[in-house]
Amino acid sequence: AGLHAVARQAGKLYLGTATDNPELTTTAYTAILDNNQMFGQITAANSMKWDATEPSRGVFTFTNGDVIANLAQRNGQLLRGHNCVWHQQLPSWVTSGNFNAATLTSIVQTHCSTLVGHYKGRVWDVVNEPLNDDGSFRQDVFFNTLGQGYIATALRAAKAADPNAKVYINDFNIEGIGAKATAMKNLIRSLKSQGVPIDGVGLQSHFIVGQVPTTLVQNMQEFAALGVEVAITELDVRMTLPETAALLAQQKKDFQTVVAACQAVPQCVGITIWDFTDRFSFVPSTFPGQGAATPWDENLVRKPAFDGIVAGF
Ligand code: XIL
Repeated sequence: AGLHAVARQAGKLYLGTATDNPELTTTAYTAILDNNQMFGQITAANSMKWDATEPSRGVFTFTNGDVIANLAQRNGQLLRGHNCVWHQQLPSWVTSGNFNAATLTSIVQTHCSTLVGHYKGRVWDVVNEPLNDDGSFRQDVFFNTLGQGYIATALRAAKAADPNAKVYINDFNIEGIGAKATAMKNLIRSLKSQGVPIDGVGLQSHFIVGQVPTTLVQNMQEFAALGVEVAITELDVRMTLPETAALLAQQKKDFQTVVAACQAVPQCVGITIWDFTDRFSFVPSTFPGQGAATPWDENLVRKPAFDGIVAGF
């Protein structure tokens, strides 16, 4: 059975994957991607980001994003919007514009409402990676100009553009109990107390073999107790190359551990892996010397991790 079919059987909404436009010409890849029993949900790895969607101020281009959205639609797969506001992959007109607070607020509002309005009825990572590892706010162009209020601005604009959208904050290193997870809980509490829309928290879950946090379940329960849903949004489990049988066996256990943790928490709605094959994983370019982080190898052959995912549900 496919991974999504197994997830549904276990009561979860979806098991999904990220994908990216250049990958869609590889037929051995699309043969797996285009199977809604394997993947019930799709996230665009790049083509809905700011540099792709608003390369010049007020000029929106949805060509590549629409290719991914249409693919998901055609296949009967859910689509996750990724993302509205993030410190990376910003066009230089945003980072170097020296906008004052009123102007940047309006720019954030226009960007978020146009994206969420274009792709209606979806779940959106409205704010991506707002925190540093110590729990402080990331000093990016948005925070430096607007303070933490940019987060509420983005969430409000997204929800106003589509009341049916689910609006999330998404980050990494908040999967286990710790300073950054605590800061995210405090942020969500504060947003809720101000009446700012916040439907969920995305736990990216870019893990390292043998180092999956031991507090996944308790941490997800603490997020859920705040009245938000939880999603595992970018799961992969990387290793220092070369891969060995022992590392692949541990990786299988690690995928199983993560899936079982989501399974143990009713408010964990689903799991997205950050592309399903080592051929297209972002890991080797971002973490030199590391890789082999996904359930299918470079040749689109299933690895032990695939069975780990099935075993976790
Ligand atoms: C990554 C993409 O996968 C790469 O293709 C791109 O070069 C850089 O961004 N956290 C996120 C994702 O929220 O948007 C990132 O995606 C991976 C880390």
